[in-house]
Amino acid sequence: MGSSCGCGVTLVLVFCLWGVLISLSSAARLSASRQKLEVTKHLNRLNKPPVKTIQSPDGDTIDCVPVSKQPAFDHPFLKDHKIQTRPTFHPDGLFEENKLSEKPKAKAHTPITQLWHTNGRCPEDTIPVRRTKEEDVLRASSVKRYGRKKHRAIPKPRSAEPDLINQSGHQHAIAYVEGDKYYGAKATINVWEPKIQQTNEFSLSQLWILGGSFGQDLNSIEAGWQVSPDLYGDNNTRLFTYWTSDAYQATGCYNLLCSGFIQVNSEIAMGATISPVSGYRNSQFDISILIWKDPKEGHWWMQFGNDYVLGYWPSFLFSYLADSASMIEWGGEVVNSEPDGQHTSTQMGSGHFPEEGFGKASYFRNIQVVDSSNNLKAPKGIGTFTEQSNCYDVQTGSNGDWGHYFYYGGPGKNPNCQ
Ligand SMILES: *[C@@H]1O[C@H](CO)[C@@H](O)[C@H](O)[C@H]1NC(C)=O
Ligand SMILES: *[C@@H]1O[C@H](CO)[C@@H](O)[C@H](O)[C@H]1NC(C)=O
Repeated sequence: MGSSCGCGVTLVLVFCLWGVLISLSSAARLSASRQKLEVTKHLNRLNKPPVKTIQSPDGDTIDCVPVSKQPAFDHPFLKDHKIQTRPTFHPDGLFEENKLSEKPKAKAHTPITQLWHTNGRCPEDTIPVRRTKEEDVLRASSVKRYGRKKHRAIPKPRSAEPDLINQSGHQHAIAYVEGDKYYGAKATINVWEPKIQQTNEFSLSQLWILGGSFGQDLNSIEAGWQVSPDLYGDNNTRLFTYWTSDAYQATGCYNLLCSGFIQVNSEIAMGATISPVSGYRNSQFDISILIWKDPKEGHWWMQFGNDYVLGYWPSFLFSYLADSASMIEWGGEVVNSEPDGQHTSTQMGSGHFPEEGFGKASYFRNIQVVDSSNNLKAPKGIGTFTEQSNCYDVQTGSNGDWGHYFYYGGPGKNPNCQ
């Protein structure tokens, strides 16, 4: 009797356990398939049907997508947007700049700027789009966060609020100007491949076009190069852009990973690997980036090097930047994800301090701003900012060749930066 009763209890337990296991595994399966569906839907939104596909040696797939089919046109405000194929005005500056429309036909001497060029080019009237793969999205904390920055990435010099800056682990070494109305900025930046300690960290070098106060509605347009294992799945140095109109909360993204930036150029892919990069005590390679506001249409345009006008951020994406920028920043940023009291060994720039100078340290040279008359000119009253100069530092200078410049960067963790 007693034994049969015990057996009954055991049986019930077994059945119960079995039931629980089945419902757990089916719940897990259901949520996995729901996530898979969400990822697939997201990939379909981002990856438009290509007319041609190019495999890059770094593992990237570059899709040549018709200009009018790019992700930007998913934006409800852009349904009836007439694409601007070129800016109406271009800042006439101090430095060699007027080559836009009369681009030389023979490209024999153009060095490779993006690795995928070794395997082909996109036809006219298409844009090269780095294909987003399932594993790219799965590396993000959620489908929604893919391609987006975490909050608080902008250094707020002068009146720095230490808590806010340190909270997110973002660290900077930058030069900046404020106190005027700015309509663009330019710089030539040498390109490196900084070492990243942990995959959830990144290291980048960029310029920031900022509008508004540093509140919830900060407007920002950013472009430069970055190494970001989480975003790209490798340690390559890549060309990138970013924008937000609400301080990194609901709007904006990297590259073409949301609708916003309208690309018109068929040669340069956002997020693609830049090649070659500079070597320590070796050849130096730099890229030029110019961002300016078209005085007629009001859109913010981006140019890469002297030859490539990449496209524009339509004015309506922004509030403050619909008028002008109130601050420009140039420099490096890394994420330190080490817990309290520890410092990451993730490098900024070349991983060497500014003191080392040319061929060793990373630089921004010929930094300029665009004024209200659409002229490039030397910035006035350049300030610098860094949270911990023992980890990453910045040093400005000026001379005839390089105009206003600065060296910046550092190794992160070292005897003076633990
Ligand atoms: C940020 O934190 C580091 C140590 O974790 C500290 O040395 C530094 O002073 C802090 N920076 C600011 C601006 O408070
Ligand atoms: C990236 O670099 C880290 C170390 O800096 C290394 O552990 C990792 O394997 C590299 N990842 C790839 C995809 O090469």
